[in-house]
Amino acid sequence: MMKSISTTLLSSALLIAGISSSAADEPIIIKFSHVVAEQTPKGQGALLFKEAVEKALPGKVSVEVYPNSSLFGDGQEMDALLIGDVHMLAPSPSKLEYYSKQTQLFDLPFLFDDFDAVAQFAKSDAGKSILTSMEKSGITGLAYWNNGMKQMSANKPLREPKDARGLKFRVQASTVLEDQYKAIRANPRKMSFAEVYQGLQTGVVNGTENTYSNYYSQKVHEVQNYITESDHGPIVYMVVTNTKFWESLPTEIQQTLMTILDEVSVEVNRRAYDLNMQDKANILAEGSTEIITLTPEEREKWREAMQPVWKKYEKVIGPHLIQAALDANRHSSSSSDAP
Ligand code: LMR
Repeated sequence: MMKSISTTLLSSALLIAGISSSAADEPIIIKFSHVVAEQTPKGQGALLFKEAVEKALPGKVSVEVYPNSSLFGDGQEMDALLIGDVHMLAPSPSKLEYYSKQTQLFDLPFLFDDFDAVAQFAKSDAGKSILTSMEKSGITGLAYWNNGMKQMSANKPLREPKDARGLKFRVQASTVLEDQYKAIRANPRKMSFAEVYQGLQTGVVNGTENTYSNYYSQKVHEVQNYITESDHGPIVYMVVTNTKFWESLPTEIQQTLMTILDEVSVEVNRRAYDLNMQDKANILAEGSTEIITLTPEEREKWREAMQPVWKKYEKVIGPHLIQAALDANRHSSSSSDAP
């Protein structure tokens, strides 16, 4: 009799707390979906996160990682996050402009001098303000993860902007990137990441832009004879979650997840450059693709042709954010005036 009363009391307490008795014993499941391969910076970040969370919170939180668009691809994953079918994603800001125009900052061509500047910016108050700029849409940004600088590719050598004229370029779902290619009189086409290889193989598009790790892991170099080392913009990621889901987590779990995420971000950023350089070497070793290094004069021509795109976006992104990015260039460790 006593036992059944206390069981009843416990069940009602759990019900009031919104937790059913069986759910109270089951781990919280975090589904983390992404579109890239596991050996890339983001792929490794997701696995490191899973490993650390399950070690720190055994039986309490379990992380399921779905790489390579295997659960949701571009164009589906944000909706899936909003309706709670997944709980964490790490898209590039190019895929977030619908939720916050400030995310467009990262796509302005030739804004960041190098990846150190992007990392510097990510740590700044301006960088943090972009993470929280999607909350009105129910999305909370938790961290930035690095990939690397983007290069351009085609089946003809691209040394100067005029070489790209008339070519069809795959871009991520970003109007800034569309305008970047329109500025050099090329034809941009938004396409999901999973479709890039086939799009190039079948000639739906003739060229694209990405980091070495994304080129190599998707075998894009097999269908592109030339990669121009343009470093014209970054691929960085915003680790995002559903705000309601995040706020529903017990405080101590939320804090542990955040501590782990901070540690994982440091590790992803430490590995990202080397992973990209390794994949550059892998592409060269396969011998199918020539990597073109630009002279400073040639690179300047790309900058002159693409940078006018900034004008259209300055107001909506916010001049203060653009200024903060330029300041990050000056403070990045590899900039020429660094000590
Ligand atoms: C792309 O679509 O090219 C990238 O955003 C993929 C990624 O997540 O690195």
